[in-house]
Amino acid sequence: MDFHFSEEQLQIQAIARDIARKRIAPVAADFDKSGEFPLANIREMGQLGLMGIEVPAEYGGAGMDSIAYVLAMIEIAEADCAHSTIMSVNNTLYCNGLLKFGNEEQKHKYVTPIANGSAIGAFALTEPQSGSDATAMRCRAVKQADGSFVINGKKSWITSGPVAKYILLFAMSDPDKHARGITAFMIDTERAGFHRGKTEPKLGIRASATCEIEFTDYRVPAADVIGEEGHGFKIAMGVLDAGRIGIASQAVGLARAAYEATLVYARDRKAFGQSIGSFQMIQQKIADMKCKLDAAYWLTLRAAWAKQQGERFSTEAAVAKLTASEAAMWITHQAVQIHGGMGYSKEMPLERYFRDAKITEIYEGTSEIQRMVIARHETGLR
Ligand code: CAA
Repeated sequence: MDFHFSEEQLQIQAIARDIARKRIAPVAADFDKSGEFPLANIREMGQLGLMGIEVPAEYGGAGMDSIAYVLAMIEIAEADCAHSTIMSVNNTLYCNGLLKFGNEEQKHKYVTPIANGSAIGAFALTEPQSGSDATAMRCRAVKQADGSFVINGKKSWITSGPVAKYILLFAMSDPDKHARGITAFMIDTERAGFHRGKTEPKLGIRASATCEIEFTDYRVPAADVIGEEGHGFKIAMGVLDAGRIGIASQAVGLARAAYEATLVYARDRKAFGQSIGSFQMIQQKIADMKCKLDAAYWLTLRAAWAKQQGERFSTEAAVAKLTASEAAMWITHQAVQIHGGMGYSKEMPLERYFRDAKITEIYEGTSEIQRMVIARHETGLR
């Protein structure tokens, strides 16, 4: 067992830390307020290799491993959760999904522009009436005589939907087969039949644009079917396993930002003639924050390591995502409490961290779904 990182992993961590501190942290509060999509920063992150960390150089990426991805995600999330949301969707839900399940032509055509930051990707599984119960989707894909498909239906909560050039879509191609009747498709948002709906007003990650999308007789050529027909659900679940490591990393970065700010405040803020960090009640909170943060960090790295071994890593990813997201929620809550009025004020970033943390317990599988995945694995029961 080796707890050291490689030169390469430390290098991407340093690159991410540099842009996070110089370009992202200084504007995070403004983007949170305006809800504007941080396009210039995302482009620059792409040029630095941060939008396709695990994508080989021949497809425009940085060609690094999953541990490198975790380290870079933590740095970006520490500066701003919204930037890290866009980064995680581009990297894992979009690029890694296509890398694993796409053919050579699809990888060159659809991975390269997203990995190098010249375009934005998205992932469309959720629908207005189906979130956790993903196989209950109604979006239909009807096969035509020439092998193409015609898509009709709606998808909701699409991260980066308002700006995405390409979307990895899951639609029901054979409703009688339920999970085995779902197929994955590549969507070019510039083709006829694709519409963007209203942008969601959100509690947190406000600069990551989210919207509903709709398909009206949208035609997908046979060449843009991803993987085999009917294998879409397994593709979505496999992609989400990797995505959950990204969200765990995001939660670690966010929790770390709240924790570091709290340490500074607990030392500086005086009450009753001493630093508030001297009081046992604050010390207890700080010790608990540190334990949860470390547990989240190492479980996330364990999940990334498990992914690299090439075996199924669904349980490790679920354990990491559950632990890290609940740690981020708890740590940001305590951080606001320790900062008192300043924690509640928009003059400091604590209230933003607190709002941003909530989504990590919801998207890419709620905490309840993570518990279901873990318990099914542990008990062998369904
Ligand atoms: N990898 C590969 N295959 C998998 C798998 C995985 N992780 N999980 C399930 N499968 C396979 C099963 O083996 C099964 O295959 P067979 O038919 O060959 O037996 C098939 O898929 C169906 O599996 P289940 O019977 O377990 O399916 P289920 O209906 O009970 O659902 C679930 C399982 C875990 C609840 C799943 O539906 C799930 O994860 N739901 C949550 C969905 C989710 O995370 N949505 C997030 C939306 S995306 C998002 O949030 C993006 C964003 O904006 C940032």
